[in-house]
Amino acid sequence: MCGIVAAAARREVSEILLEGLRRLEYRGYDSAGMALVDNEHNLQLHKQQGKVCELEKAQAMRPLLGCTGIAHTRWATHGEPSAVNAHPHISGQRLALVHNGIIENHAALREQLIAQGYEFTSATDTEVVVHLLHSFLLQGNPLLAAMQETVCLLEGAYALAVVDIEHPDEVVAARKGSPLVVGVGIGENFLASDQLALRQVTDRFIFLEEGDVVQISPSSLQIFDESGNPVERARTMISAAVEVADLGGFDHYMLKEIHEQPRALAATFAQSAALPAADDCFGAGAAAVFDRVRAVQIVACGTSFHAGMVARYWLEELAGIPCQVEVASEFRYRKRVTRPDTLLVTISQSGETADTLAALRNAGADEFIASLVISNVDNSSLVRDSDLVFLTRAGMEIGVASTKAFTTQLVGLLLLTLALGRRGAMTEQKQQEVMVALQGLPDYVQQTLELDSAIERLSGAFIPRHHALFLGRGIQYPIAMEGALKLKEISYIHAEAYPAGELKHGPLALVDDDMPVVAVAPSDDLLEKLKSNLEEVRSRGGELYVFADRQAGFVSEARVHVLPMPHCPEVIKPIVYTVALQLLSYHVALQKGTDVDKPRNLAKSVTVE
Ligand code: M6R
Repeated sequence: MCGIVAAAARREVSEILLEGLRRLEYRGYDSAGMALVDNEHNLQLHKQQGKVCELEKAQAMRPLLGCTGIAHTRWATHGEPSAVNAHPHISGQRLALVHNGIIENHAALREQLIAQGYEFTSATDTEVVVHLLHSFLLQGNPLLAAMQETVCLLEGAYALAVVDIEHPDEVVAARKGSPLVVGVGIGENFLASDQLALRQVTDRFIFLEEGDVVQISPSSLQIFDESGNPVERARTMISAAVEVADLGGFDHYMLKEIHEQPRALAATFAQSAALPAADDCFGAGAAAVFDRVRAVQIVACGTSFHAGMVARYWLEELAGIPCQVEVASEFRYRKRVTRPDTLLVTISQSGETADTLAALRNAGADEFIASLVISNVDNSSLVRDSDLVFLTRAGMEIGVASTKAFTTQLVGLLLLTLALGRRGAMTEQKQQEVMVALQGLPDYVQQTLELDSAIERLSGAFIPRHHALFLGRGIQYPIAMEGALKLKEISYIHAEAYPAGELKHGPLALVDDDMPVVAVAPSDDLLEKLKSNLEEVRSRGGELYVFADRQAGFVSEARVHVLPMPHCPEVIKPIVYTVALQLLSYHVALQKGTDVDKPRNLAKSVTVE
């Protein structure tokens, strides 16, 4: 998490840095800061607690000027969100540094630096880096060499950028485990955590590799690899006009993104038809890999993990392929036994999630036959490190709560199920049914979006509540999990999901007239089982909110509120029902007055462990 922007130019850069931070705020928004080297080679600094708008206010009150600068938006790891802990951090009144990542050996380094006479002003892990750099500068090293010496002593993950009043035209930066991209300008150069931050100033980018150190000035750009050798890295053109982040008339990005789903789902599915062979949407060589796959291991975090949980039902039931699903933070550290001929599938909207990336990178050399990532961001670290890639066509997702990324991931996973099923257990007729269902999906989602007012009416009952239970059975259980995650993430109501059959093994004790129970209850093979579980809830005074199609046969009555869902093909029900639960959380959060797009304590891209 945390977003970095830096510039070395021949013009004032404060507005470029601020605009970059606005675009990076999805990476963290508890404090922000900026340091510029002015024309007299003085260091100018603003640090503010709160969102980037607080930094803008500080800049409006006391404008900082300068052509070389660094800026940062923070998601706190070490040290509470405060102006003191905000970046940049300073050393010797000459150096300012910003950091994204975690320095794991900060405590030992801090002790050494204190012994050398350095005084610490913050509670961050980052401050050790700026003092270390300073100590190497005092030994007579130029800024670049000081950075190269410093990173050798760091354990953990970092993207770093530093300015020094003794090197007033330069920014020096380094990355390992956290992303950093160079924006190549004409007579100016830039750095950022994400190329999105720099689309305003350039369309040419260099994605730095692990261990790279880079020095930029207005007229030069030099990259050195981990061993200190100068290297050339590929330049990538990205059209500046690709996407604009605006609300398009909606009150929040989350609502806009929920409503974009019919288009995003259609665009994601269309890829399978646009290419000569169906497997081509997974990348070159996919067909040969899929021919060998006998099992699938899915690894992901958060909402993307829920997509993996849904896919397990599809892969096993439809394609006959054994499938394991695990959260990346556990998978990465576990001693595993992997079946022969297993395909590793990672799922990540951002393509930068630290745990998922580490899971991919730590996979044993011969453990998997290949890796496939399902991601929404081309050129992301997971995309660059995987053998095969399926890109969801959700478009930029800005709301921290993942919506259209999740449903488009499910389309990608259903296409993977088809690709593997075609080679094994899936009949021609079943394949055809799934294709027809996918074609119709945008319409069913549109019909669900039209239930917005009814869902809004239902949402009022959740406002005074502190807890909620979400129930589902079979493939709807992960959808209940996703519904609960969405509600807690943006409304701060504690919500838990259970497979409904588990209720009687403990959670039923929680049910009383103060506990709303949401049931994901389409007509399917497990409906009668689910109905029995819901009766158990009712007879204990629980109030039910049931999302069900007419065929399921639920009727609204006292303490039972039925939201009539469209009747759609079985295979796409998890996607369609998700959309209704997204709207439920949105309306609850809206009425509770929380920050829907930037919920407290969270960030969009989780690039720390
Ligand atoms: O970018 P990723 O899909 O890897 O992110 C994983 C999770 O951090 C993410 O899905 C998170 O759970 C969402 N904010 C939930 O809405």
